[in-house]
Amino acid sequence: MTPQFSIRDAVAEDLESVRDIKVDNWAETYRPLVKPAVLEPYLDPPGQLDALREQLVLTGTSLLVAVDASGMVVGFALFYPRHQPEPWMESLHVALSTRDRGAGTLLMREAASRLLAGGRRSLRLGVVVGNVAAARFYERLGGVMIGEEPVDWAEGVRHWIYRWPDLEALATTAGAPAE
Ligand SMILES: CC(C)(COP(=O)(O)OP(=O)(O)OC[C@H]1O[C@@H](n2cnc3c(N)ncnc32)[C@H](O)[C@@H]1OP(=O)(O)O)[C@@H](O)C(=O)NCCC(=O)NCCS
Repeated sequence: MTPQFSIRDAVAEDLESVRDIKVDNWAETYRPLVKPAVLEPYLDPPGQLDALREQLVLTGTSLLVAVDASGMVVGFALFYPRHQPEPWMESLHVALSTRDRGAGTLLMREAASRLLAGGRRSLRLGVVVGNVAAARFYERLGGVMIGEEPVDWAEGVRHWIYRWPDLEALATTAGAPAE
């Protein structure tokens, strides 16, 4: 069966959709997990659009979007392929209305393929402590929890670090959505 979603590089016209998905998801996913003062800037639409624009002009930022059959952006992956010691997945979000249909898996698989093509073989990311649905999702895709650390973007918030020591399996077969 044809996949419901395709993955492509983001263009400037996608940024408002990306911002909307991110703001909605922060409200829904992180409100129970972080203090209101920490959450507040992430719920500010103009501020979040500026923050995305600033991230994208930095060299070494990659932004992929998942689009549905109508061309609507339903999710995104923002990652840093040149990050040391390993590439870092900064943000992965799928719109609430589109969850559990494989877009997140496709975004992770494409990010893995891009990293391998660029000569990087591994990946890390952080999952805010308590975000058990995301942790389960990453474990299904072969990620291994290697520890817990404070985040660098807020006081008093910690995240679980997930690692893929070899992206080959993720890029090819692991976690392929049902098609
Ligand atoms: C985590 C997140 C990105 C996953 O995106 P998604 O598009 O829902 O992911 P998928 O659909 O590929 O997989 C999700 C589940 O659907 C199932 N699934 C995947 N493809 C499917 C398909 N074609 N049909 C039915 N179910 C499917 C998977 O088994 C998976 O189950 P699991 O998570 O219990 O293991 C999304 O839930 C999200 O944006 N969450 C809020 C933000 C967040 O927490 N981001 C991560 C920050 S670290």
